[in-house]
Amino acid sequence: MKLEEAILKRKSIRKFLDKTVKKETIEKILTLAVRAPSAENTQPWEFSVVTGDVLDKIREENIKKVRNFELPPKEMERMLVERPKESIYRKRQIEIAVQLFKLMGIERDNLEKRANWLERGFRFFDAPAAIIISSDNYLIEAGTFFDVGLLTQTICLAALKEGLHTCIENQGVTYSDVLREHLNIPESKRLVVAMAIGYPDWDFPANKVESHREPVENITKWYGF
Ligand SMILES: Cc1cc2nc3c(=O)[nH]c(=O)nc-3n(C[C@H](O)[C@H](O)[C@H](O)COP(=O)(O)O)c2cc1C
Repeated sequence: MKLEEAILKRKSIRKFLDKTVKKETIEKILTLAVRAPSAENTQPWEFSVVTGDVLDKIREENIKKVRNFELPPKEMERMLVERPKESIYRKRQIEIAVQLFKLMGIERDNLEKRANWLERGFRFFDAPAAIIISSDNYLIEAGTFFDVGLLTQTICLAALKEGLHTCIENQGVTYSDVLREHLNIPESKRLVVAMAIGYPDWDFPANKVESHREPVENITKWYGF
């Protein structure tokens, strides 16, 4: 697969086929993806790859928490502070949400359908496997997040070569206590982000979403050309 094709083909997949992903395949993807760069080659990442009963248990406990409205304060704050109401970021967030809701037939005032949709992320979009990325807590958060960002995109691209698709997701690490318990992740580790991984179900309406990008001319200043 050509690089340009892979970059354009990558998209967030929110439903997967009920088809097992082999451990060796994920191992191959991660082995390629850890070629991603990191500041001073610190490689501030560790993986917990999870499938089967363990993943099902995590999904189950996540859903219980969502239904109890247990949103960690840190997550709530992030949502409110990062995207003020009138900002361009909020507009872009709404644009993708509107598109997804339209594809899924979710009316804005249908709270039940909206709640069901929200739960999908906490179920890792019913993917056969999930990758949880953690790092040492004492490392500076901003640097770690930058490096893990490079890594996750590389995982997404490497997965395509194996016919696998992904969704990078914050929702997957919202309930860190659930993950810590089932994956034996100590408090000394920070849960950075999760990824759902599997074979895509192209018949699922939300998988047809086409996210837009701001044209480069709107976000770029050129000097000395
Ligand atoms: C750090 C990060 C966290 C994300 N968290 C979620 C999430 O929790 N739930 C979700 O549905 N999508 C999540 N996404 C996917 C984004 O919504 C998606 O990348 C964006 O809408 C652009 O769409 P595309 O990936 O299909 O190009 C996340 C993406 C990133 C990079």
